[in-house]
Amino acid sequence: MSISKILQEPTLGSVITVKGWVRSFRSNRFIALNDGSALANLQCVVDFENEDENQLKRITTGACLAVTGELVESQGKGQSVEINVQSFEILGDAPVEEYPLQPKKHSLEFLREIAHLRPRTNTFGAVFRIRHALSFAIHNYFNKEGFFNWHSPIITGSDAEGAGEMFRVTTLPNGTDQDSSEDFFGKETHLTVSGQLEGELGAMGLGKIYTFGPTFRAENSNTTRHLAEFWMIEPEMAFFDLEMNMDLAEDFLKYTIQYVLDNCRADLEFLDKRFADEQKTKPQNERSEQGLIEKLEFVVSNDFVRLSYTEAIEILRNCKPNKKKKFKYLINEWGADLQSEHERYLVEKHFKAPVVLFDYPANIKAFYMRLNEDEKTVRAMDILFPGIGEIVGGSQREERYDVLKQKVADVGIPEEELWWYLETRKFGTCVHSGFGLGFERLVLFATGMGNIRDVIPFPRAPKSANF
Ligand code: 4AD
Ligand code: MG
Repeated sequence: MSISKILQEPTLGSVITVKGWVRSFRSNRFIALNDGSALANLQCVVDFENEDENQLKRITTGACLAVTGELVESQGKGQSVEINVQSFEILGDAPVEEYPLQPKKHSLEFLREIAHLRPRTNTFGAVFRIRHALSFAIHNYFNKEGFFNWHSPIITGSDAEGAGEMFRVTTLPNGTDQDSSEDFFGKETHLTVSGQLEGELGAMGLGKIYTFGPTFRAENSNTTRHLAEFWMIEPEMAFFDLEMNMDLAEDFLKYTIQYVLDNCRADLEFLDKRFADEQKTKPQNERSEQGLIEKLEFVVSNDFVRLSYTEAIEILRNCKPNKKKKFKYLINEWGADLQSEHERYLVEKHFKAPVVLFDYPANIKAFYMRLNEDEKTVRAMDILFPGIGEIVGGSQREERYDVLKQKVADVGIPEEELWWYLETRKFGTCVHSGFGLGFERLVLFATGMGNIRDVIPFPRAPKSANF
């Protein structure tokens, strides 16, 4: 039986068997056992006077145990029930001198080096249970809204986005030096940077689809917000304009965060404390004004601020850090690309709320975005979150065949690479929209963790693909 189940519905007086890993063993009597089903440990009380001493010595932190005994009301503080151990079996030893996880605080940097064992810590247990809950909530949301889960390919023959550098997929022994017509697929192929373009094909037949899959970007960004392999959720909807797209994205984000608030209370409370402790170590001006749970509650209960890129540029041009040259990239004129320092200023200092920016200059956004009547801006939108920066990027898509064909040519993509994409505009085209949510950025926000490498089990980043 799982510890989570036992603690939720304790059947006092029953004899049960529990399996898990020892978190600590104190006074030769109290085992704190954890099986990962919940944050809480189950206290197992050993009658050490009647146990074999050699067996007791094997109850060390990290050892795997099966414990059988009666579930009783606890005598001590800190738990309501405990097990009076009648027998136990060591399933797997964990020699003290070698096991790296001892019952003390380890740094996240150290834990990243032992990513194969970190799921056994309170912090990573909480993070990965919340990651699961978010994933579940996402499927729930789209399912209840009538979307179909759509699987875009992972190996692609086109550079969909121009979104970033791509990883080459090849079976040729000398890789890119050889003629790609000799390669496995008879052409050059890559790992996908986004499932969007194939997602659009799905929406043009099924109406509303969403993808939820891994995406790969070989950009050399060594930041706390970038991974080389990350998971993305990309809904795509026929007959949605940009306004409807923004409404959906906001409603969707609120639903997933509310789901975590409703279903992950113990893990959130643990991470809330952790977050508060971490804030204390930061300089005053970098501290979050809100606690983690407070932050999540704020997001679900307030409207996101919506403003155009042009309005945002005005605010940024006239703001203090720009005038005092505190930004690394100064905002001088319309057309400038926004860096994360600008995005975070808008969200954290100016509005103190999530912000949706729309109608960006065409030349800093992807070719497939719907050109506005001004012919300068496109119907793009980005959602910016406190402490995160960009969490969602999306747009209304260019549905006009001639305009899109021209854009494809202008950015230098050979038409034969995207003929299938262009054909959706030739045959039965319609207004449609979609967006992409970076899953790890959502997990970062919901858990209050500071580094994206700590919210995915096995992070992939430049010079780092261990485990
Ligand atoms: O803004 P991006 O590049 O947009 C797209 O890929 C579109 N095709 C989405 C669409 O319209 N269907 O990426 C979308 C989101 C970003 O807002 C960010 O949250 C996340 O994906 N993201 C990353 N997350 C982790 N590591 C990276 N290197 C990321 N790059 C983007
Ligand atoms: Mg983007």
